[in-house]
Amino acid sequence: MKKVFIETYGCQMNEYDTEIVKTILQKQGYGFTDVPDDAQVIFLNTCSVRENAHKKVHNRLAALKHLKRKNNDLVMGVLGCMAQNLRKELLDEKVGVDIVAGPDAYKKLPEMLAKVEGTGEKDFYLTLSEFETYSDVFPTREGGVNAWLAVMRGCDNFCTFCVVPYTRGRERSRDPLNIVEEVKKLADKGFKQITLLGQNVNSYQYEKYDFADLIEMSAKVDGIERIRFTSPHPKDFPEKLLYLMAENEKVCKQIHLPLQAGNSRVLDMMNRTYTKEEFLKLAGHIRTIVLDIALSTDIIVGFPTETEEEFQDTLDVMKQVKFDSAFTFKYSERKQTIASRKFLDDVPEEEKASRITRTIELQRKHSLEQNQKHLGETFRVLVEGKSKKHDQQMGRNDGNKVVVFPNIGAEVGSFVDVKINTVSTNTLIGNTE
Ligand code: 5AD
Ligand code: SF4
Repeated sequence: MKKVFIETYGCQMNEYDTEIVKTILQKQGYGFTDVPDDAQVIFLNTCSVRENAHKKVHNRLAALKHLKRKNNDLVMGVLGCMAQNLRKELLDEKVGVDIVAGPDAYKKLPEMLAKVEGTGEKDFYLTLSEFETYSDVFPTREGGVNAWLAVMRGCDNFCTFCVVPYTRGRERSRDPLNIVEEVKKLADKGFKQITLLGQNVNSYQYEKYDFADLIEMSAKVDGIERIRFTSPHPKDFPEKLLYLMAENEKVCKQIHLPLQAGNSRVLDMMNRTYTKEEFLKLAGHIRTIVLDIALSTDIIVGFPTETEEEFQDTLDVMKQVKFDSAFTFKYSERKQTIASRKFLDDVPEEEKASRITRTIELQRKHSLEQNQKHLGETFRVLVEGKSKKHDQQMGRNDGNKVVVFPNIGAEVGSFVDVKINTVSTNTLIGNTE
């Protein structure tokens, strides 16, 4: 049996796609290995969202080169966004890539492998589809606590900094009945939590069903105790979804709401289609409907032409909203994007570095403050396993915060109540009740 080694980079959508790729290959009789040296096929499922992601893969390809020298029959492939973004350039690399397949090409992989294995010729498939949702491939998964589940693919928003509309193509939603079927399979396997994935989940629409309908249908599946989703876009957050979150016990009170920037002029250049004031209004509105909501965000610093004063608006929004956590990034120009064609990447590196440091510092302060509010509170925690310290266990509360408690031998996938007595920026610590 030929063995495949797959390494995944980037977002959860890619993690899910790797499961799809594995399922497709498994059906063709391929096996899998965790050790590159044992593999006859090596795939890197890649990400393009920032330059660092590209660098990581180039380095990895260079490091894997010695395996190719040892075994001339070894097939190396690049999958995912970087494949789509760099296209045939990758085949020309000295590192010996044989297959380049974009995110809509995975059903072609068996054919591509057969060609490369049979003829030694390189192959690529980079056509993006308006329809492919892989709804007929239910990934085979090992058991676990949380399962990722893609409910839509692609993105039509064209934020000017973002490569996703070019690497993952047009937005398309999966049939909710098909999604619910997959949720049932996951529940049968013992999964307790599902996270519904899409680049822009609140534009999910399939015939008469919107995203709130989909969540409601998924929540009805017995055995699934928690439903999360990521990510919505601030431009069109539906009321219906907020009320569902407030009322339905299974829907976790946690929203990842990407801000990107706090200044309205910069937001306009980013094509985010909301202003600073509109974002603040939305955050406030969410908090009045879904009490105790945990809010996280994404922030980009140093977008082209962003001044220090404009950057202060980002800090100002952070101070007003007090996110529970944030992912912060320095702007990184991406090939094909509108920003790369229209704007000069003109904020100096030192300035980007200074802005990101200040953003991270402020966020750490807010994360700690938000966590301190939880002192004395009791949370229902879904147990995920052992903590780094082996006499402790860990899980997550409804708001997706890591909660650590003494090792009481609680089963993975069970729930325990934990009363919080100590907090840090990233963790809540307490005792079981
Ligand atoms: N530069 C920096 N950060 C980016 N992101 C997306 N594109 C870029 C870019 N060109 C960030 C955004 C997005 C997250 C997934 O990655 O904040 O929400
Ligand atoms: Fe990229 Fe914007 Fe789409 Fe998110 S919503 S994937 S940032 S284009």
